Amino acid sequence: MPKNIIIDTDPGIDDALAIMLAAASPEVRILGMTAVAGNTGLEHTAPNLAKIADLLGLDVPLGRGAIRPLWRRDTVPDANVHGADGLGGYALPDSQRTLEPAVPLLARLVEESDQPVTIVAIGPVTNIALFINEYPETARKVERIVIMGGGARDVLGNATPTAEFNIYYDPDAAAAMFDFGVPITMIGLDVTHKALVGSAHLAGLYASGGPIATMVEAITGHYGEAAYSGNDLDDAVAQHDSLAIAAAFLPDIVTTEHLFVDVENVGRLTSGMTVVDFAGRTGNAPNCDVALDVDTERFVTLLADRLTQLDATLKERA
Ligand code: RIB
Ligand code: CA
Repeated sequence: MPKNIIIDTDPGIDDALAIMLAAASPEVRILGMTAVAGNTGLEHTAPNLAKIADLLGLDVPLGRGAIRPLWRRDTVPDANVHGADGLGGYALPDSQRTLEPAVPLLARLVEESDQPVTIVAIGPVTNIALFINEYPETARKVERIVIMGGGARDVLGNATPTAEFNIYYDPDAAAAMFDFGVPITMIGLDVTHKALVGSAHLAGLYASGGPIATMVEAITGHYGEAAYSGNDLDDAVAQHDSLAIAAAFLPDIVTTEHLFVDVENVGRLTSGMTVVDFAGRTGNAPNCDVALDVDTERFVTLLADRLTQLDATLKERA
């Protein structure tokens, strides 16, 4: 039985690969996808989501979500990483799709689902916090929220020394989500920085030469140059969001500990830090399965194989 998922996203170069992975994986059924501001403004992330859905032939409802964090106005993305348009300048055809309001869509999809629903949040969690606030009883029906976000021990931050970007961008929304009570899996920088994928791993995909191969080669090239050049694995870059998607249907691809997590949202130097209570010093009950290790080879092989299969499928449909 495929796992019902909703993807909340700020596409976004690694978001695009993550949505491709989900579309290529029979283990999941995408009920819908919602866009949020993050990697770049909603004026780009929302149409990017529609364009990616068109490319993949995903006939699912799409939502247009939060244009900015709940309250913060000082958190801004590094426009170099994903480009001003969010996809490193890669030109996909404009979409004719209409996006509906994201938060009512989240509520409708959860209420209408005949199976438990997992939300995979791979951008700032502003939409999730709004959903929790406006539809608390429906939100409690969500089986699990798998986030790409945070840092626990080995790698704390990429937006600041102590904060990962998705949490940094809207720390108040993240604090509300961790406080709400729905089970959370945190796929943070500790594991995504081990999930490095480069052209050496994607040679089979690139040789396939179809629409996925062309787009992935182009956008990961931009991503690598902008944010991750100098890895010891030549052009390998962290495919943060794809690991969150993989963990949603292959939970044992990561090793987790059940711990209490809260988010610093007022610190002068530490705002956006996911504070992980390894020693139980707060006395608070654990609220999160924190990923601390990853089966890197299994993940890289999964991503490369699924994208290659997807490329072949779309070539046949063309
Ligand atoms: O820190 C990595 C996260 O921030 C990823 O989700 C990436 O897409 C950006 O949103
Ligand atoms: Ca993202």
